[in-house]
Amino acid sequence: MYLIPKRVRRKLWAAAFACLSLLVILWWQQPVLAQDRVVNMYSARHYDTDNAIYENFTRRTGIKVNIVSADAAQLIQRIRSEGANSPADLLVTVDAGNLWRAQEAGLLQPVRSPILERVVPANLREPEGHWFALTKRARVIMYNKDRVLPTEIQNYEDLANPKWRGRIISRTSSHVYNQSLTGSVLAANGPAVTEQWARGVVANFRRPPNGNDTAQIRAIASGEADITFVNTYYLPRLVKSKSPAEQEAAKKIGVIFPNQKGRGTHINISGAGVVKTARNRQAAVQLLEYLVSAEAQEVLAKSNNEYPVRAGVTLDPVLASYGRFKEDRLNAAIIGRNNSEALKIMDRAGWR
Ligand SMILES: [Fe+2]
Repeated sequence: MYLIPKRVRRKLWAAAFACLSLLVILWWQQPVLAQDRVVNMYSARHYDTDNAIYENFTRRTGIKVNIVSADAAQLIQRIRSEGANSPADLLVTVDAGNLWRAQEAGLLQPVRSPILERVVPANLREPEGHWFALTKRARVIMYNKDRVLPTEIQNYEDLANPKWRGRIISRTSSHVYNQSLTGSVLAANGPAVTEQWARGVVANFRRPPNGNDTAQIRAIASGEADITFVNTYYLPRLVKSKSPAEQEAAKKIGVIFPNQKGRGTHINISGAGVVKTARNRQAAVQLLEYLVSAEAQEVLAKSNNEYPVRAGVTLDPVLASYGRFKEDRLNAAIIGRNNSEALKIMDRAGWR
C-alpha cells in the first residue's frame, strides 16, 4: 500500500470518488429516463386511422403511446378529479373553446418548442404555448343547390337577413362549434352588433335548433330548409359514405366560404396541450412535435377530412374540391376566450 506515493494515492481516491458520484447520479436519473418511454394521451379524437400515427411514433422513438378516449368535457373533468395524481401527459381535443376551458381550469402548462412555433401558425396556437393546433376546419355555409344560388349569400352577417325567414337551420347554442363561430363574430363586430345578428339568425330559423352538423346537412338535402352552417369535414363524410342515400344527399349540397371579401372564413382547430402535472413532459412534447411532422399531418388531416396545420401537406381530394379560400386569422385563443360571452349573447337572442 505504502509503495504508492501519497500524491498518486490522493488522485486514486479522487478518481474513485468521481466514479462513485457518477454511478449515484446515473442511478438517480434512471427512473426519470425510464418514465419518459411512455406518454399518456387523453384524447377526444377518435379516428381509427390516427392509430397508425402513434405506432409510427413508437417505432421511431421507442416511446409507447397510451390513449384514454372520451369527449372533451369528460377528459377535462377526469384530469381535474385526478389532480396531482393524474397520469395524463397530453390532452388532445377539438375546438379552441374546449382547449381554452382546459387552460382556464389550470390543467395545461406552457411549452416552448422551436418546431411547434415554426410549423403551427401564430394564430393557431395559444400565445404562451398552453396548446397548439393539429388540424383546421372551417365553419362554412351549406345550401340546397335547387333552392339557393351561391351568389345569394356571402357572409355570416347575411344569415340574419330577413330574406331568409324560415329557411335556416342550426344546431343548438350549447354546442361549442356555434359558440366559437359567434365568438368570432363577436371579435369582428362587437357585442351589440353580434346580439342583433344572433336575434336575426334566430328569427330566420325554420325550427328550434337540434341535431348535430350531419343532421343539418341531411335536412338541407331533403328540402326541410335551405341553408345551414357546419364544419367542412361533415360533407366529405357523406360524399364518401357507403350509403347511396347519403351520397345522393351530398350531391344536393353547395358550399360557401363566408366573408371572402372581408375578414375571411371562421377557422377552428383540433389541438393539444401538455398537462400541467405531466410526468412524461419530454415525451409529450416529442409527440406533439411529431404530430405536426409532414408524415403525421397527412394522416391526421385525411382521417377526418380536415385541413392540415402544416403548410405544403396534400389535402383530401374531396375537401380540396370545395376550393381555396381566405381564412379568418383571428387567434384561436380569442375564439376560446369569447365562448362564454358568445353563449350569453345567444341565450339573450333566444338561440336554444
Ligand atoms: Fe365535429
